[in-house]
Amino acid sequence: MNFRTPASEPPIEPTQQTNPTEEAEATRTPTALVTGTNRGTGRGIAEALRDSGWNVLSLNRTLTGESWLGEIECDLADPGDIDRALAEVGERVDRLDACVLNAAVRRLHPVASLPLPELRESVAVNLMAPFHIAQSALPLVRAAGGLYVFVGSHAGTRFFEGGAAYCMTKSTLRALVEVLLLEERRNGVRAVLVSPGAIANRPGDGSPLKMSARSVGRFVEQLITRTPADIAVGEVEIRPARLDPQGALGLDRLQHV
Ligand SMILES: NC(=O)c1ccc[n+]([C@@H]2O[C@H](COP(=O)([O-])OP(=O)(O)OC[C@H]3O[C@@H](n4cnc5c(N)ncnc54)[C@H](OP(=O)(O)O)[C@@H]3O)[C@@H](O)[C@H]2O)c1
Repeated sequence: MNFRTPASEPPIEPTQQTNPTEEAEATRTPTALVTGTNRGTGRGIAEALRDSGWNVLSLNRTLTGESWLGEIECDLADPGDIDRALAEVGERVDRLDACVLNAAVRRLHPVASLPLPELRESVAVNLMAPFHIAQSALPLVRAAGGLYVFVGSHAGTRFFEGGAAYCMTKSTLRALVEVLLLEERRNGVRAVLVSPGAIANRPGDGSPLKMSARSVGRFVEQLITRTPADIAVGEVEIRPARLDPQGALGLDRLQHV
């Protein structure tokens, strides 16, 4: 028997099995929820995600009016506001590929004079709000097999005078990220703590001894978009590439601890 294809007919190629669900998944625009995108590092993160084709939703207390930020007004010190804002997130999207907990306050006072309202605000914004948002967003993040990015700080491990409110909240955030990662990997969800050193977060700050908000934004975007699916990065510490040549070195530095 001759099994050759007649010359008039093209050879039959093995058909590529296309799964419509997989196809839709591959072309879907991913969405990230980011807190505090109106300025500073949060804005750098939002811009980098937008530039790589992501849809951004923002929880902002101060609104910019820029539609690409997908802003939802939210005072992170107010749990009722967070509930309302997350309900709105749920109306806008049915999954979150990334949830970036960036917004924070840095109130610096010695323990002797730290006003308790400022400590309460720090705990509310830097700790309670990330927990509250992470918990409320969990069904949406699970639906996407998404990634939580918590923006920590060197202050979470390198404590300093005047830093009680900031160091305490950033330090405790580390525990939350670790527990979340342990609990949620089985649901396909990952969590990472990014702990930066000095960032030039204010407009016009071109200090070569700080990381630009834009660079930190690009770094976070790469972490979100480039980490292979079978790797969970638990924690990453980043710092400026250049060091002050006048700064204390070696033993001198230790003598100030
Ligand atoms: N800058 C640094 O050197 C540095 C270093 C290490 C880590 N970090 C961390 O990086 C993250 C971003 O820092 P950044 O320096 O870029 O901050 P930033 O420029 O001071 O901006 C803070 C952001 O948080 C928002 N925010 C504060 N309180 C809020 C509230 N109650 N409700 C809603 N939003 C609120 C601010 O909104 P408003 O405009 O409405 O105030 C703003 O969008 C923080 O987690 C910080 O701890 C910063």
